[in-house]
Amino acid sequence: MKSDSQRVPQHVAIIMDGNGRWAQRRNEPRTAGHRAGVKSVRTVVEESVRLGVRVLTLFAFSSENWRRPPSEVRVLMELFINALRAEVGRLNAHGVRLRIIGERSDLPERLQQGIAAAEAATERNTNLLLQIAANYGGRWDIVQAARRLASAVQSGQLLPEAIDEARFAQALSFGDQPDPDLFIRTGGEQRLSNFLLWQSAYTELYFSDLMWPEFDAKAYGEAIADYGRRQRRFGLTGDQLSQRDPA
Ligand code: FPP
Repeated sequence: MKSDSQRVPQHVAIIMDGNGRWAQRRNEPRTAGHRAGVKSVRTVVEESVRLGVRVLTLFAFSSENWRRPPSEVRVLMELFINALRAEVGRLNAHGVRLRIIGERSDLPERLQQGIAAAEAATERNTNLLLQIAANYGGRWDIVQAARRLASAVQSGQLLPEAIDEARFAQALSFGDQPDPDLFIRTGGEQRLSNFLLWQSAYTELYFSDLMWPEFDAKAYGEAIADYGRRQRRFGLTGDQLSQRDPA
């Protein structure tokens, strides 16, 4: 078995929480926290490449975030548009492929165009798949998968009896990727907030009290090392696992 320090999660999912509180503590508008959060995004992307993480999924904007003050929503959309444009060169330099997950059709037209351009510009990169969840919700994902499967049944391409867990998982927004091994949430709250509900069934959960703009390479390294010390049992006993994976 690999020693703890060598076990790197293949897929890390992060809820980047605490931008607003970080800014308010400094007597700055909440939106200053979102701007500062871009730097932490850069850091975890580059550290993920360095450590050998293969998929990184970040929760940038939930289906529920539309309820925030319109001015904050507007700044976030502008920030996403600008970041997509400004970061493509850096993503290519690190071999990072970008994919946006979530209901795109409700996003501003300019953002949809920016997403399509950034995805196309990075599609050949293979070091890391960076998935940004925008207008995403875990329940939305399950419902859109159900709708896709129902259409396939209706058109005669799929038999209801053929729908099992594996087939259902394929219809989710990243059915071609493994489930997250490690989930990190910053900002001190301990909940999933409708993120990857189906895909987190066996994910290890890690909560940090740091606000997202404070989450740096050291903090990320600590989360990865903590993961390395855990024993994932997937419903088996510890003894069964050591028999399957001797040495
Ligand atoms: C949660 O903090 C954060 C968000 C809703 C937005 C996340 C966006 C970024 C980190 C900006 C950059 C992202 C990309 C992908 C370029 P919060 O506002 O809920 O903080 P609070 O809990 O302190 O109010």
